[in-house]
Amino acid sequence: MEMKDSLKYISDANRPEEEVPTEEPQRQYYFIGRARRHLEEMSKKAGRPLTFCVTTFGCQMNARDSEKLVGILEQVGYVEESEEEKADFVIYNTCTVRENANQRVYGRLGQLGRAKKKNPYMMIGLCGCMMQEPHVVEKLKKSYRFVDLIFGTHNIYKFAELLCTRMESERTVIDIWKDTDKIVEDLPVERKYPFKSGVNIMFGCNNFCSYCIVPYVRGRERSRDPKAVIREIERLVSDGVVEVMLLGQNVNSYGKNLEEPMTFARLLKEVEQVEGLKRIRFMTSHPKDLSDELIEVMGHSEKICRHLHLPIQSGSTRILRKMNRQYTKEHYLELVEKIREAVPGISLTTDIIVGFPGETEEDFQETLDVVRKVRYDSAFTFLYSKRSGTPAAVMEDQVPEDAAKDRFGRLLDEVQKISAEACAVHKGSVQEVLVECRNEHDASLMTGRLSNNLLVHFPGDMSLTGRLVRVRLDECKGFYYIGSQV
Ligand code: 5AD
Ligand code: SF4
Repeated sequence: MEMKDSLKYISDANRPEEEVPTEEPQRQYYFIGRARRHLEEMSKKAGRPLTFCVTTFGCQMNARDSEKLVGILEQVGYVEESEEEKADFVIYNTCTVRENANQRVYGRLGQLGRAKKKNPYMMIGLCGCMMQEPHVVEKLKKSYRFVDLIFGTHNIYKFAELLCTRMESERTVIDIWKDTDKIVEDLPVERKYPFKSGVNIMFGCNNFCSYCIVPYVRGRERSRDPKAVIREIERLVSDGVVEVMLLGQNVNSYGKNLEEPMTFARLLKEVEQVEGLKRIRFMTSHPKDLSDELIEVMGHSEKICRHLHLPIQSGSTRILRKMNRQYTKEHYLELVEKIREAVPGISLTTDIIVGFPGETEEDFQETLDVVRKVRYDSAFTFLYSKRSGTPAAVMEDQVPEDAAKDRFGRLLDEVQKISAEACAVHKGSVQEVLVECRNEHDASLMTGRLSNNLLVHFPGDMSLTGRLVRVRLDECKGFYYIGSQV
């Protein structure tokens, strides 16, 4: 059963209940139709088509969720507008993993509020992880009353219904669920790229790393039925997709809670069988659950890309314990060795947090030591950000900001130096790239992605988009290459 929060203010006025389907996704298709009629009227009044802009903060999960919102908006009849200031319906799909993401949202909301005063058709919607925090919704209700629609991560599938409710009343619609065990399949999605796509394989997280807010805002782990995953990928492939990114907060624990449990490695094997699919990526892996079976599958696969994102967070076993990560520095280094042996040349990337409570200079040196030993192809480095409600927020010995910033700077220097060196080793090689888009700065160049996730820019035209071509990596520019098609 889905659990709903008390913050539910949906007006059921004007809704002839008997006609409304109760089953999903039929119910949402019904509301898409109903919203469509409202929008037609609004457009007629405005004398022009009404537009939308969805702005995404945060991770790949959010990016995929935004594609679902866009899919519904387009079916309702809204036209996409890339400039937020010009759009009639602006939606922020928010992230709350670090405090500065929240601050940015409030700042930009202020601007939107001013724009709304000038546009009688304008609506503002907020959704995503930040909305799952009760204090955020309280603040919005108090200080940002002009927001039209607020919903969370668990009921995003209900977007059409919520939108329709807002169109039929003058009140702000707020619908946030604390958690859910529901997964609704087969709703419309509009992909950003025709040739590659994210595919959710699981939602939520059960790990409770002590710094992390994700388990509180994304709920408990739920895996999608493998058949639904494969069916979605088959459909995507028949629609032109050649690369998929399997998405989950912790893909390595995929399948544990299914009626018929299965492993992530087995799912990968099944995905590999999908004819016409060329490349498989996945995100994110937790070191504690990375199995030998998975390493073996990666070693034998033709389609799984030679890239593994394996967040370490800290190199100090003492800090890892306080983070509740459930592995040691040594265990992590062993894993890296095993992976490199099974998949020679694999690119390894990571996430690192600096300034976790209690981190000393010695702990930080352990992190630097891991960075030097693993030699990451790239690393995302973060200053620890206190998230209220998490165990780490109330730990003693919060690290002073200047010490954390100093460590952050030193870490960044080391990471950048190493990744530039790691990037350079491919110089002169010929590799297959998936051509993604025209180069932003030079229209004579196309941009492609290597299996190991590096980008290469090379002379070409738009007809190559979505194709796999062979490119020589001529010139290393630190984080990317300039190449030529062979
Ligand atoms: N402070 C800083 N970084 C964090 N991350 C998650 N929570 C926090 C936090 N409270 C980082 C982790 C994670 C990445 C997505 O964000 O490194 O892997
Ligand atoms: Fe941000 Fe985490 Fe939500 Fe992704 S799942 S948007 S990283 S808070």
